[in-house]
Amino acid sequence: MTPRADEATKRLTWLAGALRAPRILESAGRLADQARDAGWSFEDYLAAVLEREVSAREASGADLRIRAAGFGVRKTLEDFDFAAQPAVRGQTAALASGGFLLEARNVVLLGPPGTGKTHLAIGLGVKAAQHGHRVLFATATGWVARLTDAHRAGRLPAELAKLRRYGLIIVDEVGYLPFERDAANLFFQLVSSRYEHASLILTSNLPFSGWGSVFGDQTVAAAMIDRIVHHADVLTLKGASYRLRNRGIDTLPSVRTTTDHTEG
Ligand SMILES: Nc1ncnc2c1ncn2[C@@H]1O[C@H](COP(=O)(O)OP(=O)(O)OP(=O)(O)O)[C@@H](O)[C@H]1O
Ligand SMILES: [Mg+2]
Repeated sequence: MTPRADEATKRLTWLAGALRAPRILESAGRLADQARDAGWSFEDYLAAVLEREVSAREASGADLRIRAAGFGVRKTLEDFDFAAQPAVRGQTAALASGGFLLEARNVVLLGPPGTGKTHLAIGLGVKAAQHGHRVLFATATGWVARLTDAHRAGRLPAELAKLRRYGLIIVDEVGYLPFERDAANLFFQLVSSRYEHASLILTSNLPFSGWGSVFGDQTVAAAMIDRIVHHADVLTLKGASYRLRNRGIDTLPSVRTTTDHTEG
């Protein structure tokens, strides 16, 4: 290395440190060789170095957001076998671009057990995190517990305001457990505080007509469904459980005791 190149490397080391972008040091050297060989302009070279840094930062940001989302299991849209649910392939592809989040639209995934509702909800959540949105995932019961704690501590409004800063909240398993009246009211407040501000993804094994019995009150359920569905895409999954495929089992209720270990 010539004394001048050596001097430049020292300055770059210091500058990359000052910018808290240590990766720039590595890409600057590597891309300089490529630029000399290929005769890039100075502008092309600078853009290439900065692009590496920006994409590395975005990837590590997405990774942090995915880890913070509380998905439990990692599922991706790429792992989803759309041959099993061909009717939602197009809708899912459109949602994967993340446009719905910019318009604070909702997504509702309906269908019987094992048809891929949670998988698609998490897959869309991962995409949202990659598009730069903060995401939080929990079951309906988990959300109610969180809101109940906040309510008891007298900080429900603060909690709802904090949650509004998340571009996407996923509520899994609406309908498996009925809500108490107080819980239903808290859940209603979550839905209404996000209405036209930020997106929700909900999954349920019940059609909307069954939500009244979940929330213990037809009026609350109707007002909630109204707000959720006003700007929403509804994806209806069909058919037999993916968990039971190739097991020679057609219907769930008769085999309930044998399906306990088939998760995953
Ligand atoms: N079309 C699919 N392609 C790949 N994997 C799938 C598909 N559908 C479901 N699975 C897998 O089957 C299992 C069950 O799916 P999932 O948990 O998404 O079902 P669900 O509709 O949420 O069911 P439940 O109502 O019981 O919660 C998961 O491991 C999921 O990854
Ligand atoms: Mg599920």
